[in-house]
Amino acid sequence: MKKIRVGVKYCGQCTPHIDGPSIIERVKDIDDRIVFVPWGASDKEVLLVISGCPTDCASRPAFDGPMLNVAGNFLERKRLPASRLPEAILKRIFGQFSKPRPDCNLGKETMEAPSNLKGKVALVTGSTKGIGRGIVGSLASAGADVVVVSRNQEDCNRVADEIKRHGNDALPVAADLTDLDAIEKLVEKTVRHYGRIDILVNNAGASLTKRAEEITEADWDRILNIDLKSVFFCAQIAGRQMIAQKSGKIINVASILGLVGDRQVLPYCVAKGGVIQMTKALALEWAKYNIQVNTICPGYVITPMNEADLKDEKIFNHIIRKIPMRRLGDVDDMVGAVNFLASQATNYMTGQSLVIDGGWTAE
Ligand SMILES: NC(=O)c1ccc[n+]([C@@H]2O[C@H](COP(=O)([O-])OP(=O)(O)OC[C@H]3O[C@@H](n4cnc5c(N)ncnc54)[C@H](OP(=O)(O)O)[C@@H]3O)[C@@H](O)[C@H]2O)c1
Repeated sequence: MKKIRVGVKYCGQCTPHIDGPSIIERVKDIDDRIVFVPWGASDKEVLLVISGCPTDCASRPAFDGPMLNVAGNFLERKRLPASRLPEAILKRIFGQFSKPRPDCNLGKETMEAPSNLKGKVALVTGSTKGIGRGIVGSLASAGADVVVVSRNQEDCNRVADEIKRHGNDALPVAADLTDLDAIEKLVEKTVRHYGRIDILVNNAGASLTKRAEEITEADWDRILNIDLKSVFFCAQIAGRQMIAQKSGKIINVASILGLVGDRQVLPYCVAKGGVIQMTKALALEWAKYNIQVNTICPGYVITPMNEADLKDEKIFNHIIRKIPMRRLGDVDDMVGAVNFLASQATNYMTGQSLVIDGGWTAE
């Protein structure tokens, strides 16, 4: 059987970079004809180079075959039609880096849950994709029964089935969270099924990249409705159940763009800043009910929400230069903080924001 040599670039010059072993781990089972070699520019047998170097700094011009930069998971820099690598294998390798791992946070080493959530019920909005998909898996792996929510029932069913296969209970509920009646029904279904809600993760959201002078009223309403208004009403409606229980954890997913500004994302910045303020105000009001309200502020994480923007090399470079750790975040980088905020470790912590951004806002 002819072996296919795939080069993995360990430049070691800009640290931290995504290390070779973790790249190989991600693709090693794709095809047993593949052998991985540390890439040197003189290796003419190599058919693909995978690089984990965030700035792709060294040796790139010397290779004229397909090259994949996975610093921040996936960025296709160059792909020649005349590649000698079988198209099916190329596609599967690219595919592996262009979506979250299917079992993201369910199962093995990524499931290092800092908390025991057995017996707890966690409702996670926007949990079929991206960060929410990671969070729901991580809370389930810590023992929680989970409610999987998005607008798409099939997606909710699929994720709930994946979680059930790992032995947890999961309830799939489709709901458009910009509709208050739908939130009421979601909470009713949850309480009917599980009898309680211990953890609410307000994660569902959307973004918009547009110049301030071009933003329409419809743009404004769309972003503010899902990124701010729905967060409050989910908290309010689920919170009534928590008030009755005299306990609960509300975890909002804001963004560093609620703390600092950036260009062409104005309504998103306004909404996320609002979520951070809402967290403080709600924490004060509901402290007496033993409900803790906290926020995480992720930096840039590759998810379906922003993958199109991040494929643009100009945007990618603008962002990566602002991150001291010189890499985008991974969904796995976000979930530990949520498990922590959902756990008993935070029973005396409320109204706070945890920033997970590779150092962006430290500057
Ligand atoms: N990715 C980043 O770099 C980043 C950085 C900072 C903060 N965040 C925040 O993290 C959260 C998750 O972002 P993500 O990047 O993981 O986004 P994503 O990949 O686009 O996933 C968003 C999730 O929310 C659901 N959703 C969207 N609109 C909804 C609605 N009206 N009702 C119910 N569900 C809805 C989506 O499912 P359907 O579309 O099928 O409904 C999907 O499950 C957001 O609040 C985002 O602002 C993300």
